[in-house]
Amino acid sequence: MAFWFFVLVSGMDIIVFNTVHAEQLPTTEEFISIDCGIASNANYSDSDTLIEYVSDDQFIETGVNFNLSSSSSSYRGPIIYQTYSFSSYITQMVTLRSFPDALRSCYVLKPVTRYKKYTVRAQFLYGNYDGKNSSSIMFDLHIDVNFWQTVNVTESTALYLYEVIVVALGDSVSVCLINTGSGTPFISVLELRPLQDDMYPAANTTQYLVNFFRLNVGPDLGSSPLR
Ligand SMILES: *[C@@H]1O[C@H](CO)[C@@H](O)[C@H](O)[C@H]1NC(C)=O
Ligand SMILES: *[C@@H]1O[C@H](CO)[C@@H](O)[C@H](O)[C@H]1NC(C)=O
Ligand SMILES: *[C@@H]1O[C@H](CO)[C@@H](O)[C@H](O)[C@H]1NC(C)=O
Ligand SMILES: *[C@@H]1O[C@H](CO)[C@@H](O)[C@H](O)[C@H]1NC(C)=O
Ligand SMILES: *[C@@H]1O[C@H](CO)[C@@H](O)[C@H](O)[C@H]1NC(C)=O
Repeated sequence: MAFWFFVLVSGMDIIVFNTVHAEQLPTTEEFISIDCGIASNANYSDSDTLIEYVSDDQFIETGVNFNLSSSSSSYRGPIIYQTYSFSSYITQMVTLRSFPDALRSCYVLKPVTRYKKYTVRAQFLYGNYDGKNSSSIMFDLHIDVNFWQTVNVTESTALYLYEVIVVALGDSVSVCLINTGSGTPFISVLELRPLQDDMYPAANTTQYLVNFFRLNVGPDLGSSPLR
């Protein structure tokens, strides 16, 4: 399976998303937004984006929920995207789901439309949730049966964010966390967003695109770069 590294200069994000007024938000049809680790069957609407986040329940059966302790001295918020507003991130980062007992733990994201293009975004903030003060946790992410990314967490308070663009081959897209013997896999947020079919033509049924670098050119200070 071939994959390409790519650079996105997301002027398009600014045009598409930042000029939108609150009363005419674009559709969230086919969005899947999981705030991993929140209480079973809970859901809420994000205060900035109004996107509804749900719990893990309907997507995965294994795992243990954790809250990052707000009193934990190690937690001082995400350090990536530090020039942007964090308010919408912090809500989603303070809980996570951890998988101590499984070699392979898969989220089955559905419904999706076969042969439609999606971006899948996974975010990780360790925050010393297990009290072990680990300075190295590594595990792999697979998208369906293909290797996507090694997650390499070395900084307790950093937000690690990975994206991939895939074409759905069936009625679901799986994201699996693979324990490679270098620490317990965990995840803070998992999101799936539909894309127009003519975007990113390099992503097709036989190859996917892994985001290497994304640059948001000239955003307003404090604006949220992602939906
Ligand atoms: C969110 O929770 C409410 C109340 O429990 C429920 O009626 C609704 O179906 C839930 N929405 C989703 C998307 O799970
Ligand atoms: C996390 O905090 C919420 C709100 O205080 C609570 O309802 C939930 O039970 C906590 N979860 C865990 C795993 O401690
Ligand atoms: C966690 O580790 C860091 C560096 O490895 C150290 O400076 C810090 O004191 C440790 N914190 C705790 C609570 O053990
Ligand atoms: C993990 O990240 C650390 C810090 O960036 C780096 O020094 C180390 O080489 C990385 N490990 C692997 C296997 O990529
Ligand atoms: C996907 O794109 C690659 C590179 O352009 C091409 O080699 C491959 O045949 C395409 N696959 C399909 C199913 O079109």
